[in-house]
Amino acid sequence: MRRGQIAIALPKGRLLAEAIKLFEATGVQGLEGLAESRRLLCEDFTGAYRFLVLRPADIPTYVEYGATDMGVVGKDILLEQERDVYEPLDLKYGACRLVVARPTNLEDKGRPVGFSSLRVATKYPTLTERYFTEQGVQVEIIRLSGSIELAPLAGLCERIVDLVDTGRTLQENGLEEVEEITTATARLIVNRAALKTKYQQVRGMIERLTAAIQGGGA
Ligand code: PRP
Repeated sequence: MRRGQIAIALPKGRLLAEAIKLFEATGVQGLEGLAESRRLLCEDFTGAYRFLVLRPADIPTYVEYGATDMGVVGKDILLEQERDVYEPLDLKYGACRLVVARPTNLEDKGRPVGFSSLRVATKYPTLTERYFTEQGVQVEIIRLSGSIELAPLAGLCERIVDLVDTGRTLQENGLEEVEEITTATARLIVNRAALKTKYQQVRGMIERLTAAIQGGGA
């Protein structure tokens, strides 16, 4: 990394396009085409910033270890991972909900009869465990990496815990929401050391992002 350069982690997938728009609204230039391309690394025109496009779940790790100074990531992932990062800003986009869902045609709409403990498939084992423990319900958590909605159809589990945005994925796979666990939006996270060693640049970017959000820049 060039001296004084700020490295920023951007999440692949649904949060990427808006994240790019937000940084462009702060005055960063040179990100055109990044969302559509297969490029994973991109410097802005001035060389002051370097952007890395990463799997969302890896972004807190990059930021905690200082491999990137800051990053954009969903609150759901932050709650799940509890990484030691500074979270100065709600970027106010990408709103979605983490919910418990079950097959629509389940005969017993409550706890399935005959199950000693409920099997729940999810990408969020920590949040899921905590939620059901608080409810006093014993569950067996099955950790998956994606396409969670398929798991009940395949007979792997009786419930899932997953993100819902429009609700289409649940509906089109014969599932219905039971309860909401939490809501989530995109957040800016910052490496704790970078906040001190690169104070001016980091603070400046937080302020410009804040202004971009308030001005509806993203
Ligand atoms: C997310 C989530 C749901 C879907 C919800 O998956 O896990 O599957 O989006 O969106 P909807 O309510 O608008 O249908 P994502 O596309 O991030 O892929 P994944 O299967 O890897 O989790």
